[in-house]
Amino acid sequence: MYERSSVAELAESLKRELNHYSPGGKLPSSRELIERYRVSPVTVSRALARLTAEGLVVTRPGAGAFRAPERPAPARAGDTSWQEVTLSAETTADGVPRAVDASGVLITLAAPPPGVIELNGGYLHPTLQPEAAMAAALARAGRRPGVWGRPPVDGLPELREWFARAVAPTSTAAEILVTAGGQSALTTALRALAPPGAPVLVESPTYPGMLAIARAAGLRPVPVPVDPDGVRPDLLAAAFRASGAKVFVCQPLFQNPTGAVLAPDRRPEVLRTAREAGAFVVEDDFARRMVHADAGPLPPTLAADDPDGVVVHVCSLTKVTSPSLRVGALAARGPVLERLRAIHVVDTFFVPRPLQEATLELVGSVAWHRQLRSVSAELKTRRDTLITALRTTLPGPTLTHIPAGGYHLWLRLPDGTDEAAVVAAALRAGVAVAPGRPYFGAEPPAPHLRLSFAAPAGPAEITEGVRRLRTACDEVLGSG
Ligand SMILES: Cc1ncc(COP(=O)(O)O)c(C=O)c1O
Repeated sequence: MYERSSVAELAESLKRELNHYSPGGKLPSSRELIERYRVSPVTVSRALARLTAEGLVVTRPGAGAFRAPERPAPARAGDTSWQEVTLSAETTADGVPRAVDASGVLITLAAPPPGVIELNGGYLHPTLQPEAAMAAALARAGRRPGVWGRPPVDGLPELREWFARAVAPTSTAAEILVTAGGQSALTTALRALAPPGAPVLVESPTYPGMLAIARAAGLRPVPVPVDPDGVRPDLLAAAFRASGAKVFVCQPLFQNPTGAVLAPDRRPEVLRTAREAGAFVVEDDFARRMVHADAGPLPPTLAADDPDGVVVHVCSLTKVTSPSLRVGALAARGPVLERLRAIHVVDTFFVPRPLQEATLELVGSVAWHRQLRSVSAELKTRRDTLITALRTTLPGPTLTHIPAGGYHLWLRLPDGTDEAAVVAAALRAGVAVAPGRPYFGAEPPAPHLRLSFAAPAGPAEITEGVRRLRTACDEVLGSG
């Protein structure tokens, strides 16, 4: 494992020290740095590599490390203001705004400030990630013959086979495209299935990253409400009729953010309604491997119930491993597969082969099933810790649903609460929480917060996070 913080600390110390040397001046040797800072040789070489990448240091093999020569000052300060005009002027007839709003995605991707507890993260805390198994898989993958060669653009055949088995008993490798995680798969699906300007039905509330993809592609998200049994089929049928949409994006399992599972009697209704509207259902199966240890048997994918090619299935391995294991899959049958394949290859060519090979190594190792079991147990413990902390510490807000999978709880705030003020006060109190607003495609029916229990360091941090949230709520709602 890398000594992440000591690398960063040493790099910072060396940066401060650089002023003592003139440009081109020689820095202390690695041995001196190891002794002076009491760090390992790996830490020294990684810190120097970081400063080299930043252009502050140059290293010469056999001679040592030197302060980099000063960069020449620009002849004149550039004037980029012309770009404002160019970036906003409409040059096409489709009326699709060119600006892309990434804020909903960045909430769960950005690292919190130091000392702030991360109850808004979208991925596992590093201690829950299978770091050793991933490192071993990457090392084994690196030794596979041809690992740096071009992979087939649809993905490595064995990996497509592995994904096919997970999607449905009847799925075949030929129906799978390996993608760079779920985000890339959703982007390909939406671009393939709807032209700019078209409506797309989305659950309400739903994953802000998907709303961002839809808007960036010029689509018009039309919200269809979700209750504890998943999307409401009566409203789905009405939304198809009213909008003429040909796509519905659905998370049937552990929906983000509500945690709802689409009820067994609603599954055929959703498929039939879409089929009657001549529409596709994009099934975002992002949390299947985030099932909690106390959940009953999982329902099959919607794709498994659909022989007619209505469902375009999306899944990803990032949630149960690491945000950087950006490997996922699209599964579809019928002519739409050609459309998906064309967009996928035009946009990304293919997922880097070393990552695909490492994924095969990982999912084929004994560590894989151990990882699935330990994530499942850990998520259940953390979910229960968060629920207990909320019930004992935070009486005002209500939990509408206790999920049996996923990594978050959806909390309804008392009517009229200034949600943004709570989020800001929480950050001041030292805990980052996600506001409910970005999860709604239109005006929200009530204020909410989404609290993640996967990203904090452990149960103690979750409890402390809720205590800090209580301080914030008292500040905004009053303690009476
Ligand atoms: C519902 C849902 N779908 C898809 C994604 C995309 O994740 P990734 O691209 O890491 O697979 C996310 C990430 O938060 C998500 O919450």
